[in-house]
Amino acid sequence: MLYLATLADCDVMAAIHATAFPAPDAWSRDVFSLQLALPNVAGLLHPSGGTILLRVAADEAEILTLAVTPTARRGGIGTALLLEAATLAGSMGARTIFLEVSVANIAARRLYSGAGFIETGRRPHYYSDNSDALVLRLDLAPVD
Ligand SMILES: CC(C)(COP(=O)(O)OP(=O)(O)OC[C@H]1O[C@@H](n2cnc3c(N)ncnc32)[C@H](O)[C@@H]1OP(=O)(O)O)[C@@H](O)C(=O)NCCC(=O)NCCS
Repeated sequence: MLYLATLADCDVMAAIHATAFPAPDAWSRDVFSLQLALPNVAGLLHPSGGTILLRVAADEAEILTLAVTPTARRGGIGTALLLEAATLAGSMGARTIFLEVSVANIAARRLYSGAGFIETGRRPHYYSDNSDALVLRLDLAPVD
């Protein structure tokens, strides 16, 4: 069901993102294109309306963004994208995944803690609404 995004998918990814984030925070097609053109960035798409982007540097990965369109939420798409991104990150050489999430984003925080992420830091007043960012970390199982 999930598939690896290509540059041809950037319109779809931007459309999903625009439904999931307020306008100032939504990423344009060009932002997705610039990111996906990088050799260490990969994206996944769920055809029902979800997308995730990750970047790998050495043995660390970062989730750059995760978005599920509101009408498709609470069906496991966010979790599926996150778990597949973790597998993908591992195959790209990552041993650890990091991400940032607003302390006010209860939905995402529950999703991440359910997937095994733990809090490792906090950036005060990080977001435009003045909320703190929590830095979360997931250690990947070693690949044989
Ligand atoms: C966060 C987000 C990606 C979750 O996507 P989703 O497809 O609804 O997630 P899932 O269905 O896999 O939910 C997994 C778990 O997360 C938690 N969760 C998800 N949405 C929740 C909500 N609105 N309230 C409370 N918990 C929630 C629940 O524990 C849920 O498990 P359950 O449905 O069995 O109770 C989605 O709400 C979204 O796109 N939000 C806006 C963008 C965003 O915040 N992105 C993350 C930025 S760091």
